[in-house]
Amino acid sequence: MPVVELEGVARTFTSGDAAVRALHGISLQVGRGELVVLMGASGSGKTTLLSLVGGLDRADAGAVRVLGEDLGRLPERQLARRRLTTVGFVFQELNLLPELTLEENVSLPLEGAGVPRAAARTAARQALAEVGLDGTARRYPDEISGGQQQRVAIARAVVGDRRLVLADEPTGSLDSATGAEIMMLLRRLCDAGATVLLSTHNPANAAFADRIVHLKDGALVRIEQPPAPARREGAQ
Ligand SMILES: Nc1ncnc2c1ncn2[C@@H]1O[C@H](COP(=O)(O)OP(=O)(O)OP(=O)(O)O)[C@@H](O)[C@H]1O
Ligand SMILES: [Mg+2]
Repeated sequence: MPVVELEGVARTFTSGDAAVRALHGISLQVGRGELVVLMGASGSGKTTLLSLVGGLDRADAGAVRVLGEDLGRLPERQLARRRLTTVGFVFQELNLLPELTLEENVSLPLEGAGVPRAAARTAARQALAEVGLDGTARRYPDEISGGQQQRVAIARAVVGDRRLVLADEPTGSLDSATGAEIMMLLRRLCDAGATVLLSTHNPANAAFADRIVHLKDGALVRIEQPPAPARREGAQ
């Protein structure tokens, strides 16, 4: 079963008389362990697609299935719960809560899902170790670098059993070397069984992908496989 399955998906936004076809006719399957990169000009529909897969927004037509479940059929309450238990989000802007320690930030989704605090904190420390931040649990976001903050956001996205990460330009505010480290981390998580769907404007990031999905004006125009050596390099 694919982790993510889109079938004839469309999403149109209307404001006043104007209608914007943000996505139309999108069909795509993403399997476990895959890192799929979305590329396309500003306004091509990348964020809209990630929002639909994450259950933050609903398609007007077609089906969006995550782990076999049709999100269009789920009531809002269940969509909200899935955001705590199934998918993790990473955004360009670092969105950690400054007054909480790193461990507290990472454990938030689990605590929101009702996991007892001690167990949530233990899982948070494990997730921090998984992203190379062992021993930083008690520090605060403003005490670490931007790249490290993005690692914390990734830890929060995979904490507990969540293994689907939706990342919207996660390297957009990082320098290229730090951005490449973040891509390598995501590649490593995928090789360990996570699934990542990621938007980027940076072709260098696409080299870490299993597949590159090109969007244009809301349509899927091309799916490309980057050369294998780049993927292997990223996996190290
Ligand atoms: N909530 C909304 N209301 C109205 N129009 C929207 C909304 N969200 C997106 N759009 C429109 O849908 C289209 C796709 O937007 P989207 O944000 O998905 O593009 P994007 O590929 O993520 O762009 P960028 O690279 O700038 O982030 C754009 O024309 C945008 O203006
Ligand atoms: Mg966007």
